[in-house]
Amino acid sequence: PLARARAAIDTHVRLVDDFPSPGIAFKDLTPVLADPEGLAAVVSAMAHYCAGADYIAGIDARGFLLGGAIARELNIGVIAVRKGGKLPPPVIGVDYELEYGSARLEVPATGLALAGTQVAIVDDVLATGGTLAAAARLFTEAGAHVQGLAVIMELAGLGGRAALAGGLGIAVPVHN
Ligand code: PRP
Ligand code: MG
Repeated sequence: PLARARAAIDTHVRLVDDFPSPGIAFKDLTPVLADPEGLAAVVSAMAHYCAGADYIAGIDARGFLLGGAIARELNIGVIAVRKGGKLPPPVIGVDYELEYGSARLEVPATGLALAGTQVAIVDDVLATGGTLAAAARLFTEAGAHVQGLAVIMELAGLGGRAALAGGLGIAVPVHN
C-alpha cells in the first residue's frame, strides 16, 4: 500500500513555489485526495499503520478527510479533534504554542469512552509537530493510549519528529 500511495502523491501533488514565503516549495495535497485512486492509496497506507486502534482521531480540519475514511477501512469509529471554541461544554482541551501565539484542541468530555482505549491520531502534514504533540497530550490526559500517529507527509527540517519524542508516539509519514 505504501508504494501505491507514494506513486499517487508523486503524480498528483501540486507544487507551489515561494509559498508561504520565498524559497519554500509548498506541497498541496488537494489533487491527491481528489483523485479516487490517490485517496484510496493514501487511506489504505495510513490504515495499515493504524491497525489495532480502537478509534481514529482526525485533526481539524484536513485530518477530518482522512480520519473518517481510515476508520471505515478498519471498521472502527472516528473522533473529530476540534480547534478551540467549536464544541459545547464540557470539553477536554489542551493549549499549545504556535510560532506566533497559541492554539487549542478539544474533544467532548462526555459521551466518549476513551479511558483505556487505543487511539491513532491522523493528520495531513507533520511540520513542527506542535499540533500532533498537543493531540497526543489531549488523549493521554483523557486516559487513552496513543497507539500511533500517521500523516501523509512530513516537512523535513522543522523538528517535527523530535517534538513527538518522549513516548508520545511515532509519526509514520506515508511520504516525504
Ligand atoms: C496544518 C496541517 C497540520 C499542522 C501541522 O494545519 O494541516 O494540521 O498545520 O503543523 P505543525 O506540525 O507545525 O503543528 P493548520 O493548522 O494550518 O490548519 P488546517 O488543517 O485547519 O488547514
Ligand atoms: Mg491541519
